[in-house]
Amino acid sequence: MLRVENFDVAYGHLQILRQVSLSIGGGEIVAILGPNGAGKTTLLKSVMGLVPPKAGKVFFEGREVTGRPTFELARLGLAFVPEERNIFQAMSVEENLLLGAYCCRDKARKAANLAKVYAMFPRLEERRRQLAGTMSGGERQMLAIGRGLMNNPKLIILDEPSMGLSPANVLVVFEAIKTLTAQDVTILVVEQNVHATLAVASRAYVMEHGAVVMEGSSAELSGNEHVKRAYLGLAV
Ligand SMILES: Nc1ncnc2c1ncn2[C@@H]1O[C@H](COP(=O)(O)OP(=O)(O)OP(=O)(O)O)[C@@H](O)[C@H]1O
Ligand SMILES: [Mg+2]
Repeated sequence: MLRVENFDVAYGHLQILRQVSLSIGGGEIVAILGPNGAGKTTLLKSVMGLVPPKAGKVFFEGREVTGRPTFELARLGLAFVPEERNIFQAMSVEENLLLGAYCCRDKARKAANLAKVYAMFPRLEERRRQLAGTMSGGERQMLAIGRGLMNNPKLIILDEPSMGLSPANVLVVFEAIKTLTAQDVTILVVEQNVHATLAVASRAYVMEHGAVVMEGSSAELSGNEHVKRAYLGLAV
């Protein structure tokens, strides 16, 4: 469904990504793991047309989309929920969600999507009239993911969805991720919460210093000595 080939990305003269390649099949949950500064967010931004790659290509459903603007990718079925959870603070929860459905004009479909998001995150429905700026960190994260879903994406890209959440809210987010794949949404997720991520992901890539250093099934990676030591905090 999504394929990234030999990506090189630089900020000015500073090269961040080197020859990064990955692929995600329809219906998969694929994770990208790696330490702070490894280039994970840069990779996602570059795929989403927010940072132009110096070299390399992106294909979505077989067609090349390298460097296409974000709104065009959204129209093709790609949703991106960034680390910064850009929600509109002075608007209500429901207004924020409806903004996410900007490319479907069909009112019935919009209402159906809204109902789906509320079923996934009942907290958002309880708070639908509350100003988004007064929502807690966990609630905002649910809102950011919910908004991404309002466009009926085929693939949703999540940058650290569990960052800053309480253990209970981390569970809510991972449950939502599982529910999504049951609804045929493919997921690419960057996470620091390696244990929980490998439990839901089918495969993962490990990035270090701007390059993919390892890839494999979640089972393979969970058993890998380097992953255990560096990411799962297990003494080997
Ligand atoms: N706009 C920018 N200009 C210059 N350097 C940048 C810019 N954005 C990121 N970087 C640098 O690129 C490197 C990779 O950053 P990136 O945000 O992609 O890492 P990350 O893997 O997402 O890390 P984290 O886990 O902390 O979110 C870092 O060294 C960062 O300082
Ligand atoms: Mg990041």
